[in-house]
Amino acid sequence: MKVLVIGGGIAGLAIAWRLSREGSTVEIVERGICGRSASWAAAGMIAPGGELDTEDNAIASFAREARNLWPSFAAELEQASGMSVFFTETDSVILAETESDAAQLRRRAPVAAQWLSSERLLSREPLLSPRLKGALSISGDAQVDNRALGDALFAALVANGALIHENCEALSLMIERGTVRAVVTQHGTIQADAILLASGAWMALMSGAGLNLPPIKPVKGQMLALVPPQGIGLPKSLIWSDDVYLVAQRNTLLIGATVEDAGFDTSVERHCTNMLRESASRLIPSLPQWRLTEIWAGLRPRTPDDAPVLGGTTISNLFVAGGQFRNGILFAPMIAECMARMLLGQDPGPLAAAFHPGRFSENA
Ligand code: GLY
Repeated sequence: MKVLVIGGGIAGLAIAWRLSREGSTVEIVERGICGRSASWAAAGMIAPGGELDTEDNAIASFAREARNLWPSFAAELEQASGMSVFFTETDSVILAETESDAAQLRRRAPVAAQWLSSERLLSREPLLSPRLKGALSISGDAQVDNRALGDALFAALVANGALIHENCEALSLMIERGTVRAVVTQHGTIQADAILLASGAWMALMSGAGLNLPPIKPVKGQMLALVPPQGIGLPKSLIWSDDVYLVAQRNTLLIGATVEDAGFDTSVERHCTNMLRESASRLIPSLPQWRLTEIWAGLRPRTPDDAPVLGGTTISNLFVAGGQFRNGILFAPMIAECMARMLLGQDPGPLAAAFHPGRFSENA
């Protein structure tokens, strides 16, 4: 079977890699460079604890299952690509900046995690401000270098003989009698037995006769990266406050992120990145002395109910995988597993059912 994947982000690449390991022929069409869009802009967090805490719903169950798949996914990918993705187990620390934050977080501690007093927090993360009132520590999160991850998936796919077209925008789908036959790209038409749309924030822009795609919208996130002066170490935990999160990735500290409804605009605005840096400086007092190395913006793909869309469509051989919103890196192994099974005609398991794209169709 030949599967054409539209979108070379982490989701599209991971699904394609999984399919190629099952013997499918895969071809990928990417409008830019693989792994250089939302997947590049991310912070690499694999953090159901930090992002979803004790939530008990379909997204949280899916997230926890995805988290459990990560160690083997990372190890197999490293083996297949010969590249490191820097997967690390860590914890999330949710900071209390005020006494009222502290009281609220302390109430959650017995269920979710462990309460750290200000002194214990500082002994664990000495960079943090002594003005903080403590923190909730949630174990079991992890992280990966999302940029290395994209490169590793690309290498693993190439090693499996996948054909990858970069700088090649998919313009429309050729649909006849309820079946998609081919995709028309700016460089020609490509036929396939099945087509998977994994084009992130751009998914809903695809055209084709009778196509009814999930209403995915872009949500802009601006971020920055800083390097500490010599002799200052980086935090060990993923650190969260009301305004920012801080992620140490190799020798850099990533600070994110804005959440903006700004269409497809990916410009970086200094007042936004300054605001992120100021918020982060309240948490790490030495931060104004750190060297700024990069500022960037990316587009998260968001559905109206903030849940992913995974499954078949009204076109018999057209599938979608998207709407990951804040959790694209975390979800990747689980999305790869569920979508590969669907494309291969196997049972995707019970957790994917809640995310069927049909929930957004007019008669759903
Ligand atoms: N997962 C963090 C973000 O979307 O900013």
